[in-house]
Amino acid sequence: MTTAIDSVELTRVGPGTVMGQLMREYWIPALLSSELTSGGAPLRLMLLGEKLIAFRDTEGRVGVMDHRCPHRCASLFLGRNEEEGIRCVYHGWKFDVSGKCIDMPNVPPHQDFKHKVNAKAYRVVERAELVWVYLGSRAKAPSLPALEILDVPNGEIGVSLIQRDCNYLQALEGDIDTSHFGFLHGGHVDPDDMREEDPFRHTIAIRAPKYHLADTAWGTQYAGYRPAGPGLTYWRFGNFLFPFWTQAPNGEFGDHVHGRAWVPLDDEHTMFFFLWWKRGASVMTQPQPAFKDGTPIGGTGRRNNFLPNTTDWLGRWRLAANASNDWGMDRGAQHKNVIYSGIDGIHLQDQAVTESMGSIVDHTLEHLAPSDQMITRTRRRLLTAARALRDKNVSPPGVENVEVFRGARSGYFVSNDKNGWRDAYVEQLALASRPQLTSLHPGQ
Ligand code: FES
Ligand SMILES: [Fe+2]
Repeated sequence: MTTAIDSVELTRVGPGTVMGQLMREYWIPALLSSELTSGGAPLRLMLLGEKLIAFRDTEGRVGVMDHRCPHRCASLFLGRNEEEGIRCVYHGWKFDVSGKCIDMPNVPPHQDFKHKVNAKAYRVVERAELVWVYLGSRAKAPSLPALEILDVPNGEIGVSLIQRDCNYLQALEGDIDTSHFGFLHGGHVDPDDMREEDPFRHTIAIRAPKYHLADTAWGTQYAGYRPAGPGLTYWRFGNFLFPFWTQAPNGEFGDHVHGRAWVPLDDEHTMFFFLWWKRGASVMTQPQPAFKDGTPIGGTGRRNNFLPNTTDWLGRWRLAANASNDWGMDRGAQHKNVIYSGIDGIHLQDQAVTESMGSIVDHTLEHLAPSDQMITRTRRRLLTAARALRDKNVSPPGVENVEVFRGARSGYFVSNDKNGWRDAYVEQLALASRPQLTSLHPGQ
């Protein structure tokens, strides 16, 4: 059970909150590198409830800082991106990407105190086609998390962003809630209409899988399992990784290298970052699920239609199907059982159910079931780490030991069921393909 106090501590992410402080210990993916052009317009960026601007200076360096000018708080979003810095349009003060004030032209030279003024700028690195920001206060920022997906060489990584209108936690929990798959995404599918060996078939042939789960060095892990013929077990492994990452079992384990981040923009909006290996197994590289006669399964399309990005704090990467139009629900398709939910698209189905809970779900109304054990364990793991940081200054998992993340992999496989679940995982990981480790970013 999640109490009202737990609920507030889990879901609030602004400065000074329990979970907000935990998240500020880690590097946070913030935007696509391609969203900023050298000398181009600054971008409004909301991150953990902080209103920031991001810009790329004329030298190609990225700056991320509080949007308020340290002089009298006019927004630097209005600023002029000039030679090697951004200039406030109010009185002309200019700041470089590190926040240093480098010009104070409205003050006579003998009264100039620019060397004493700094905009509140955060540390930034670029990696995997993304800009990452460190919002924490350590003098020396930690290394980037050693996620397996960050080993993927340039050019082999796919990245997509989608904003979701709800708290990060309920969005994230959709990814570690494996039993919804056979309903929300596949409730209309008769397993007899599927090829015997189709992995999708297992999830609908037995819609109430059994689970193992455990705390791990990187967060939590579960294995859903179902019998898969004489002496065999069909496994689906998934992970939660601190502080907001998931790995879902939607690909063959052996080359399923990916990462999914649920980054809070504020308490009520989340940016989903999906990173995948283009040479591996992924929902982005596999064909759409189909019946054995080759017809695509209704509602399993992957195309997402976006609204145009705007300059609003929350104006980026929004879907055209949203609460205002009932996520494009087709009641006819639901009624005829062509699409279980009537909503077309696996991501959109997840988006709809989690947004439909309200901006921040009221956890005290839930009736959690044994099928929710991964969710309750993950909440507990997050809360325990966040409170240990607050109360005893204990560094959270994976901040000082970033290598723990490289051991996390998700996916499905069939194996001899004489193995215990952890042994089966270790065996499959040893056999798995791994991307070639790229050279570390110079900023690390
Ligand atoms: S408010 Fe920015 S220079 Fe005055
Ligand atoms: Fe889902």
